[in-house]
Amino acid sequence: MTLYDRFGAPVSSGNRRSVDAFNEAAALMLGYVADPLAKIDAALAADPGFVMGHCFRAGILLTSSEAGAEPELKRILGILIGHEAGANDRERGHIAAIRAWAERDFYHASEEYGRVLCDFPRDIVAMQFAHLCDFLLGQTTMLRDRVAQIMPAWSEADADYAYLLGMHAFGLEECGHYERAEETGRRAVALQPKDAWAYHAVAHVCEMQGRTEEGIRWLTGGADNWSPNNMFAFHNWWHLGLYHLENGDTAKVLSLYDEAIRPQSSQVAMEMVDAAAMLWRLHLRGVDTGRRWDELAGIYEGWVEHAYYPFNDAHAMMAFVATGREEMGRRLIAALEAAAAADDSSARMIREVGLPVVRALKAFGDGNYPAAFATLLDVRKRAVAFGGSNAQRDLLSLTLLESAVRAGDAAAALALANERKSAKPASPFVRGLFKRVAALPGAAMVTAA
Ligand SMILES: [Fe+2]
Repeated sequence: MTLYDRFGAPVSSGNRRSVDAFNEAAALMLGYVADPLAKIDAALAADPGFVMGHCFRAGILLTSSEAGAEPELKRILGILIGHEAGANDRERGHIAAIRAWAERDFYHASEEYGRVLCDFPRDIVAMQFAHLCDFLLGQTTMLRDRVAQIMPAWSEADADYAYLLGMHAFGLEECGHYERAEETGRRAVALQPKDAWAYHAVAHVCEMQGRTEEGIRWLTGGADNWSPNNMFAFHNWWHLGLYHLENGDTAKVLSLYDEAIRPQSSQVAMEMVDAAAMLWRLHLRGVDTGRRWDELAGIYEGWVEHAYYPFNDAHAMMAFVATGREEMGRRLIAALEAAAAADDSSARMIREVGLPVVRALKAFGDGNYPAAFATLLDVRKRAVAFGGSNAQRDLLSLTLLESAVRAGDAAAALALANERKSAKPASPFVRGLFKRVAALPGAAMVTAA
């Protein structure tokens, strides 16, 4: 008799205890509640041949974006290949996705998960992994459309429907459908108040529309729901920090950094990215952040040769630049240049976006603002291809703008300030920006023109 997981997707295992533990792990993962891996380890202890257990573990590893996870991913793939003959079609689809990712064919991996979803639209585990792959790979429309593909197989009667809505809300937001995104995200939260991803989707809408005060209310009002014991909380705190930064409250940003965004040192790549990104935003404004960079830069030093997921490398370069680690900066660029020649997804992302971004950051650090400006001006238009969200990649626009100001290019700085004003007309940061631009030599002529 075929067993099904709690979502309605088939598993080849006949071990009810393992399937129950898998159900619990997947439910935790949907809400980013700690600790799904501990649950899945229990499932695997009860049945070491539990295919979906291994697939789940591999999915978490591959969506971590960490080169350090690759050996373990390959080890699990080896186990799964040994069990492939007894696996069902759904599981074979997961194994194909894991194999593709382990071979650094990231784009193909996302489509293997997509294929599983076509055949098994109740496989919300595949949906979450596909969603995270789409996020990591900058496949923005698929953040929206892949969820839409399986929505008809679900309804509000399903206990976990809210999580699908949360994913859809984020995809809608990244595609610029702000109204629908907000409505969908709020509906998800109404159905499942602990849906950290749905909270996040609405936070993004507020960020993109410059609705700073509403964003602060939304996230602080819901923090008791989305933050306790939550592996994603650091990122929602980071969004809260962005609002305060827009208001110019850098003291609040630094206290949030210490208490919630980076409360302790960790080597989780996505946590490091957010920490570095927040410090870089402060760095661009000339805010003294004390010794905070050193902790990040010290960890990134150990990753300098990874050249695996260039979004991470870009943030490593920020840490090297901010701490004056010139030799590390050179080694990072050399590692990326060497990796760029390969025929895999890593190399493609490095060539198209990673290397130009990292070189621009290095130029910025060297005080060569015209070079930083020229490179960023070109690459930011296609920077979506190295993943992350629009809000995260806004860092490139901010660095571009700062490069224009420091290069004394009043006309370009004014154009870029106008761009930000259009998106965030009430922003105190934007107001300050116009004052800085107006003080540039030649600004009067530009404004008069
Ligand atoms: Fe975000």
